[in-house]
Amino acid sequence: MPTRKKFVAGNWKMNTTLTEAKTLGAAVAKGVGTDERVTTVVCPPFPWLTAVAEVLKGSSVAIGAQNVHFEKKGAFTGEVSPAMLIESGCTYAIIGHSERRHILGERESVINHKVHTALEEGLHVILCMGETLAERERNLQERVFQRQVFAACAGLTDEQFHRIVIAYEPVWAIGTGKVATPEQAQEAHKFVRLKLRQLYGDNIADATPIIYGGSVTPENTAGLMSQSDVDGALVGVASLKATSFLEIVKAAGAV
Ligand code: PGA
Repeated sequence: MPTRKKFVAGNWKMNTTLTEAKTLGAAVAKGVGTDERVTTVVCPPFPWLTAVAEVLKGSSVAIGAQNVHFEKKGAFTGEVSPAMLIESGCTYAIIGHSERRHILGERESVINHKVHTALEEGLHVILCMGETLAERERNLQERVFQRQVFAACAGLTDEQFHRIVIAYEPVWAIGTGKVATPEQAQEAHKFVRLKLRQLYGDNIADATPIIYGGSVTPENTAGLMSQSDVDGALVGVASLKATSFLEIVKAAGAV
């Protein structure tokens, strides 16, 4: 049975003032210290990246962006390139979050382009996918995962795949307080891993962390993490308080 290190990322979304971001980042850095049992990442809004990177220095907490553009540079008003993120201290970028897919209309071809550019430029990618409520009600989730994995990862090399973390985030569970049961999460993660195995082989399927996102709290973390294919969590609301985020990191490390 392969052992994958647990991975917990906090997605702050469009929240925090600069002062709040620095305070939250500093508290997470203090709580985690140099402990490396769980890969821990925080993803503040773009304008706070350098300031938060500064307060994380000396800790093992990494920093990620919530989005990235698909081209390396040029006339793309309002966009942010992978190189800019790296220079701001980021090692990770979230790509394909459901809020970007559904609210901002991000298409699968764009997500694939972003994944390629981010990896080429040296970032690690937290690649989000998951079904909507309507898709689950029609029992279409496996078809959706298959399409999303295939579309987002098309053309990646093995070396690039080692810098991918997949986040399974059922859209109906995000920000709703309706967490997937550990069994529902396990079933979905197992299917995604099976698809990775069929498409990319055993090494990639066994090494790729598949984390769960959608209403993760300190209370439900241990149950989710006890499932063999659940390798961590992408945390929204509960990452905005250092105490609850740190409890999630701790619970993930204890499993
Ligand atoms: P939530 O968000 O924990 O607030 O449900 C998770 C996410 O969108 O990444």
